[in-house]
Amino acid sequence: MNNIPIHKFKDFEGMRKAGKLTAKILDELNDIIQPGISTDKINNFCHDMILDNGATPAPLGYRGFPKSICTSVNHIVCHGIPSENKILQSGDIINIDVTVILNGWHGDSSRMFVVGRINKKAENLIKITYECLLKGIEVAIPGNHFGDIGYQIQKYAESKKYSVVRDFCGHGIGKIFHTPPSVLHFGKPNEGDEIKPGMFFTIEPMINIGKKEVKILNDGWTAVTRDKSLSAQFEHTIGITEKGNEIFTLSQNNSYFPLNIL
Ligand code: MF3
Ligand code: CO
Ligand code: CO
Repeated sequence: MNNIPIHKFKDFEGMRKAGKLTAKILDELNDIIQPGISTDKINNFCHDMILDNGATPAPLGYRGFPKSICTSVNHIVCHGIPSENKILQSGDIINIDVTVILNGWHGDSSRMFVVGRINKKAENLIKITYECLLKGIEVAIPGNHFGDIGYQIQKYAESKKYSVVRDFCGHGIGKIFHTPPSVLHFGKPNEGDEIKPGMFFTIEPMINIGKKEVKILNDGWTAVTRDKSLSAQFEHTIGITEKGNEIFTLSQNNSYFPLNIL
């Protein structure tokens, strides 16, 4: 039950640095993600920038994952593998998920990016998914329970007639990439463990326009919506403080709003 790591005050500094680098990398991608670029080029850009900053990419070799970031286009829910053959086209939406290890600490964050011009349906999905993440973070405070996070996300997504993916969840994080707790993006108020100061975890809702069901492709990684409907995701790494929480992976130049490049 109670195997959720509680970190010390000084550990926040390590997470702050790792989170900052993660955000700085994502900030750079606004200019790079354009029609005609391959997802492998985006991978290589991130890989090089991670190493240049004295960090390592956590996904590379993690349980056999072959690349340094995840690139999930359109109906891919998560864990898309960057490829030279996947060329982005105007109208695509893409989630880029970056996890760095800096001085032993993990920063894990993902955002949606739009390629060229996208339609209103895709635009609305991205906006609502971003708001789902913010609503989850809002209730991630001491005294609340993990079920409160899932409840807020599910309630909002379903009020917009979207569905919440059940097969993947947020996670504890710190010196280890994935630790307890599993942070579900659906649930009921007051359920699950209590949220306490010193906990570090991610919230990373995946929201579909269609049904919630997903399947994994033959590569063993790529998760897609079964009905091929569009899916979006945002992720932050946060730390629980005495008063509330600190978002470690906030954009560093405020360049980022999901739809600012439409
Ligand atoms: N960054 C993902 C997460 O949010 C995990 C990717 S694991 C990988 O937890 F192996 F697919 F890279
Ligand atoms: Co994560
Ligand atoms: Co991630």
